[in-house]
Amino acid sequence: MLILPDYPWDALAPYQERAGRHPDGVVNLSIGTPVDPTPALIRDALAAAADAPGYPTTHGTAALRRAIADWYARRRNTTGLDPAHVMPTVGSKELVAWLPLLLGLGAGDVVVRPLVAYPTYDIGAQLAGAESVAADDLDGLDPAVRGRVKLIWVNSPGNPTGIVRGVDELASLVAQARSLGAVVASDECYAELGWGDWDGVGIPGILDDRVSGSDHTGLLSVYSLSKQSNLAGYRAAFVAGAPELMPHLVNSRKHAGMIVPHPVQEAMRVALGDDRHVAEQKDRYRARRELLVPALEAFGLRIEHSEAGLYLWATAGEDTWTTIGRLADLGIVAGPGTFYGEAGHGFVRIALTATDERIAVAADRLKVAAHATGRRAN
Ligand SMILES: Cc1ncc(COP(=O)(O)O)c(C=O)c1O
Repeated sequence: MLILPDYPWDALAPYQERAGRHPDGVVNLSIGTPVDPTPALIRDALAAAADAPGYPTTHGTAALRRAIADWYARRRNTTGLDPAHVMPTVGSKELVAWLPLLLGLGAGDVVVRPLVAYPTYDIGAQLAGAESVAADDLDGLDPAVRGRVKLIWVNSPGNPTGIVRGVDELASLVAQARSLGAVVASDECYAELGWGDWDGVGIPGILDDRVSGSDHTGLLSVYSLSKQSNLAGYRAAFVAGAPELMPHLVNSRKHAGMIVPHPVQEAMRVALGDDRHVAEQKDRYRARRELLVPALEAFGLRIEHSEAGLYLWATAGEDTWTTIGRLADLGIVAGPGTFYGEAGHGFVRIALTATDERIAVAADRLKVAAHATGRRAN
């Protein structure tokens, strides 16, 4: 029997209950689940494709694969991506979880994930029976471990930290991975949500011409429409690149029945052709961020990184659970940094995924609490 760790979010339940006792209601900023409506043009595309009596294609319709390749060219500085080398996935979480197994990894193989990371990279290694190692660069690894690295996960912009890796950093990682014969899988689902210096600037991905040198061998880009298009409920994502691996991934997924429903493929095709709804959604998150950042800082939290993505990575210089408790007393639920690895100690993750009304309520509560603390100190 394979026994995986308990689902970490269950540990948050007592704090959710504590926050729920706030007389003016809870503000849940713990999970990054979109709350704004799915854009009408995408819902219409789903409905228009509702008559789907036959089995859908695992590899994706030709029209969807063309739309994905065009999107990489338009939004990700990736030219020359052959539509044969892309495939839709049932959200990206399943691909993250199953990729090591689908690549044939197992005992003795090493999967590297970022030091502070989305937990599913580690789960994927465990599902395959491979060894999971947390490291932000390969130089620090024990040579015995380094020699066994078969898959390297990159997550830029990162969840939970919002760290963005630049072109040079990604290019040198690609060179290192190639010298080891390892695959790089780059999880890029927050790429459209750059802030500050990254606002309006294309965030580099692993297939970016400047990173890959237009050679996609050993490089997989993983992208999801959950966040940019409010499609988490549709399970709409894709993987692209690695011409030598893609036919095998498609074939394995055909055998395993890991197929995106046809109406969702159509919804994805239409979503990928429309940049306007993505910009509009980004504006909503920008406004929420601008309200929350000063309020959290007034409350005594220091925000680190958070250059892109849907989260604020923050610390009060105390134990994670103390901060989680103090926020719960204000009726605010945050994500514990410890859920993302040892290096997350002392941090909390604040998601921008609540309605404008709830975000304004949270900002007010934080400011009132900061003011009261200031008064007591004087
Ligand atoms: C880094 C990262 N990868 C993958 C996912 C999964 O996204 P999807 O909804 O496509 O499964 C998430 C979701 O929060 C994420 O933060």
